Amino acid sequence: MAPPLSSLVRSQLSSPSPIRQIMKMAERKNIVAMGLNPDEVISFGGGWVNHDAPEEFRQAYLDIAGDPALFHKSGGYTATLGDLDCREQIALFEAALFGVPRLGPEHIAIGMGSTQLTHDLFRTLVDPGDTVLLLDPTYANYEGQLAFAAPGVTIVRLPVIDAATWSYLPDTDPEGTAREFRRLFDTHKPRLVLFGAPDNPTSQVVPQPLAEVMLERTRDAGAWLAIDFAYKCQYFAPYPAYYGWSPADHPHVIGIHSNSKWARGLGRRLGWIEAAPGVVDAIERVQQCSILCPDTLAQMAMARYLKGAIPSGSLQRYVDFANGIYKTAAQVTLDAIDTHLGRRRLVPRGGLYTVMDVGRDAEAFVPEALKATGVLVVPGRGFGSSIANGVRISFGPLVNDTAKITEGIARLAQVLP
Ligand SMILES: Cc1ncc(COP(=O)(O)O)c(C=O)c1O
Repeated sequence: MAPPLSSLVRSQLSSPSPIRQIMKMAERKNIVAMGLNPDEVISFGGGWVNHDAPEEFRQAYLDIAGDPALFHKSGGYTATLGDLDCREQIALFEAALFGVPRLGPEHIAIGMGSTQLTHDLFRTLVDPGDTVLLLDPTYANYEGQLAFAAPGVTIVRLPVIDAATWSYLPDTDPEGTAREFRRLFDTHKPRLVLFGAPDNPTSQVVPQPLAEVMLERTRDAGAWLAIDFAYKCQYFAPYPAYYGWSPADHPHVIGIHSNSKWARGLGRRLGWIEAAPGVVDAIERVQQCSILCPDTLAQMAMARYLKGAIPSGSLQRYVDFANGIYKTAAQVTLDAIDTHLGRRRLVPRGGLYTVMDVGRDAEAFVPEALKATGVLVVPGRGFGSSIANGVRISFGPLVNDTAKITEGIARLAQVLP
């Protein structure tokens, strides 16, 4: 008999992410077993983008791979926090796109994507017995990441969806939401408050006044405020002023950033943390044990691309273009829901998703809908109990095939009277 695995891993294996379970259910062999043709399945399940990376970015990889000395260099380690050149370019990227002031390489820790960085950040900021405040709903991976990186942490959630009216409370009831935040904060004294902007699965953006309440409360209490900016470059309306907050002005605020979504670099793993130098130094210590250094080729290509694309304006043009196609895909999704389903849904402010009310427990609805219509959506409960009767619909993978969005939503009408 094999020796036992760690008790932490055993407990996590017995409570797998519900979203992963759904994605497993949609694997080819399971689809065939359901009697469906996998080629006819339309999936709104994947949380990924499908636009092309910038052509100049691809060229940067070609330049490096085509030069024996540069290619040799790309096989070496960089510093644990990342190559200085790339850290400088990332600081310029944030200044150019979002006006983040006084940002320098001392505020940037590069890692292998925001998943690894978030895990290592939790390791850096919180202790067993601490409380972390998350939104409800929010990105489903945080709970597991906290369980692994900081076992023994208590999670408290601020509801941001009113299940009765299917509205986003920070917009429809800003005072009530701020009051509830203050009440939860004062009662539970979290060491860390974390929200996504825009968030997954709602694609809503915490408005500036609520972010300021969070900023002040965390600062006054000596707590951390972290913002997950995985979808920062996907904004369909003017973004709030905190997109330009700098750790030079707010040393207790931390930004978590990813190359996955804006540059379609999901598998070219690269992300970064923006934080006060003391936090960056602490992450260096953690990363010495988790990754040793981020991917060198990805950093060389990024630095090379940004050096040309920031001053020429092609970076801004690329981001504007990508925004445009996701905004269109979001609108196609909403129009299809309104025309074919007439269900309550949220209007995305950015990102790749909307959430829609299905009027009953979505854990049961989703497999039934897949079987009956060949359409996959993700049940809401994994993101938070406030949307247990809702599903996440991702239009990201279908951004270049919006007719399929309409067809998939129309098919759902068979199971949504
Ligand atoms: C809110 C949020 N944060 C982080 C990630 C993971 O990003 P990365 O590819 O940088 O690890 C995702 C991916 O779906 C996400 O939705």
